[in-house]
Amino acid sequence: MEKVKISDVSYEGEGVGRIDGKVVFVPYALKDEIVTIEKIKENNKFIKGKIVSIENVSKDRVEAICPFYSICGGCNYQHTTRKNELDIKKINLEKELKKIGYQSDIKINTCDKRDGYRNKIKLKVKDFKLGYINSNENKFVEINKCLLIDEDMNILLSQVQTFIENERIKEVEGVTIRGQKQSYLICFHLKKETRISENILKKYLKNDKIGVFCEFFDKNKRKLEYIFGLKNLDYEYENLKCSIDIDSFLQVNNEVANALYKKVLENICAENVINAYSGTGVLTAMISKAASKVFGIEMQKSSHIKAEELKKNNKLENMFNILGKCEDKIFDVFEKEEINSIVLDPARAGCHQRVLEKILESNVKKIVYVSCNPSTMVRDLFVLSKGYDIKVVEIFDMFPCTANIEVYTVLEKR
Ligand SMILES: C[S@@+](CC[C@H](N)C(=O)[O-])C[C@H]1O[C@@H](n2cnc3c(N)ncnc32)[C@H](O)[C@@H]1O
Repeated sequence: MEKVKISDVSYEGEGVGRIDGKVVFVPYALKDEIVTIEKIKENNKFIKGKIVSIENVSKDRVEAICPFYSICGGCNYQHTTRKNELDIKKINLEKELKKIGYQSDIKINTCDKRDGYRNKIKLKVKDFKLGYINSNENKFVEINKCLLIDEDMNILLSQVQTFIENERIKEVEGVTIRGQKQSYLICFHLKKETRISENILKKYLKNDKIGVFCEFFDKNKRKLEYIFGLKNLDYEYENLKCSIDIDSFLQVNNEVANALYKKVLENICAENVINAYSGTGVLTAMISKAASKVFGIEMQKSSHIKAEELKKNNKLENMFNILGKCEDKIFDVFEKEEINSIVLDPARAGCHQRVLEKILESNVKKIVYVSCNPSTMVRDLFVLSKGYDIKVVEIFDMFPCTANIEVYTVLEKR
């Protein structure tokens, strides 16, 4: 056992202190607390500790509302107030941005909900139980409820759990549930191909607005098999007829995604726009209503197909969906069109260097960069700052209770 004073909270939501000069990370510890820890990992760079007791309890500490909190490893901030969670997120983003010279204020767009906000959940299966992998301790933790999804999805989750427990299909190693407007798609992840009977599933899954799939790898090739029910979830969004399948990308928090998309639209006028990393095209479709032409570039085929359906079903003739990697396809678009603005919304890895270089040599006046990973975003903003000034940075609290954030930035050509 060791005692450590917490001097900070890291971007990952872990308390940070030092023992004999060596940095110590303590999940669920808060600034100014003195905690006694048990070392759960140590190497020559850092120590990872688990709280055994707290001496100097922070005024910002609160009781977590979830019985699995700190056990399942899923959330990071239930032990503190909403305000402190947001302050920590803001301070850490400010620190990152300061490294590249940005020091202006950062607005936070909060989420009304702190729980029940996720429209998708992915769980592991071990010994016929559903749960999460606690990555701090590298162990499986059984759960029967997750507060990040709503009551209806939790009901479905417990039906899935009973199916897994009773039917004991040893090939099932995970489950994904995606919901939209009280309709759901479920995918069982299998170790290898096996038959899951529709009739048996229907004994447990007492919901007629569901679709069920299974996924497995056959000679390293992924196969997705449809079992029964809905194939897609259809929903209406800002007068657009939209649809999502089990595979394609959709922001996990509908309320905050909506606010974020509206914010992006504030930057769009009647001009040509590229929406790079465009997913299923919802944002591209919204941009099409204001822009002259919009070019969405997306490399995932299932998402591209959804974007094409969106264009067709809503008769969006100025929306052009391009299938491929942005680092390849962006050149063709610049070749053929005069582009005024670009919206970048990459995955956690950030933008490819070729994309950034192409933008730097272009006449693009405005860049809106949306990111779910501040460290790659800051890396990319640094590259873009050779030709652009950062004008606005805002946080969208897409993932309450967890360490993740969504960041919105606007850059203008210098
Ligand atoms: C964070 S999502 C954003 C999607 C969309 N903007 C939205 O809000 O729904 C990132 C998307 O980029 C896609 N992607 C990742 N790397 C890519 C690349 N190199 N080129 C094109 N698309 C890519 C992913 O498949 C994913 O759909």
